Amino acid sequence: MELKDKIVAVTGGAAGIGGAISRVLARRGAKVVAVDIDADAGAALEAEFGGDVVFIRGDVGLQETADLAIATAVERFGGLTGVVNNAHASRQAPFLDITQDMWDLSFSTGFIATRNFMLAAHPHLKDAGGSIVNFGSGAALVGQPTQGSYAAAKEAIRGLSRVVANEWARDDIRVNIVCPMAMTAGVEAWSKSAPELYESSLKKVPLGRFGDPETDVAPIVAFLISDDSKYMTGQTLMADGGANKLY
Ligand SMILES: NC(=O)c1ccc[n+]([C@@H]2O[C@H](COP(=O)([O-])OP(=O)(O)OC[C@H]3O[C@@H](n4cnc5c(N)ncnc54)[C@H](O)[C@@H]3O)[C@@H](O)[C@H]2O)c1
Repeated sequence: MELKDKIVAVTGGAAGIGGAISRVLARRGAKVVAVDIDADAGAALEAEFGGDVVFIRGDVGLQETADLAIATAVERFGGLTGVVNNAHASRQAPFLDITQDMWDLSFSTGFIATRNFMLAAHPHLKDAGGSIVNFGSGAALVGQPTQGSYAAAKEAIRGLSRVVANEWARDDIRVNIVCPMAMTAGVEAWSKSAPELYESSLKKVPLGRFGDPETDVAPIVAFLISDDSKYMTGQTLMADGGANKLY
């Protein structure tokens, strides 16, 4: 799949699934602006790809980070054709115990960041065959206990994505959602701290394993960023080994 003419901002793009997305997009010929709070991972990414990947250190919850990321894509690469809103930080707790700080963390890094990056990108994506990929979660679809602040933000992202897909279709901008399931450092740590929960999650995956960020999830994002998916918008794609189905 050809991404030679694509210029893409990837949030949380230095590590985890976002790091895999930055790498796969760059290997396929795209120019990438990776935005993350992890400066070490960002520096390693830049060193790996030379000038084709630019790293910006910043909190995606802040408007200034979205503005800087989009401006950097335009200045360094001459424009912007796509945004991947992948970053999302949250804490788990039963609904009765969710603090205001927990709500704020999940909504600022998930929903508000996604909203800000879409708005900042719009003038550049307009009439350029733009593609936005936002991130949902199977945990939100099924209402997994202790995920209140996370699930609420994820479904807010999906709801807004469908509205924006309808509104911006006339601007030739597509908006789709990916719900992944992948083995990242965070998931690996969780599998060790809660082995029974991990085993029971694994049993619900028909393909029998957690996905690999680079080979199972990032290629689906690359497809959505590419022109191969130019007749798809407003859709949710499950990159989760069949664990959850949308009917
Ligand atoms: N891993 C899974 O199985 C899974 C399942 C369902 C949904 N998701 C979703 O996929 C996406 C990526 O998940 P992941 O497992 O790679 O997450 P992760 O926590 O491992 O990585 C997220 C990246 O975002 C960065 N980040 C965190 N807070 C940030 C902030 N405020 N500003 C900028 N960058 C920030 C981190 O430094 C990291 O590089 C998220 O939206 C997550 O909710 C993941």
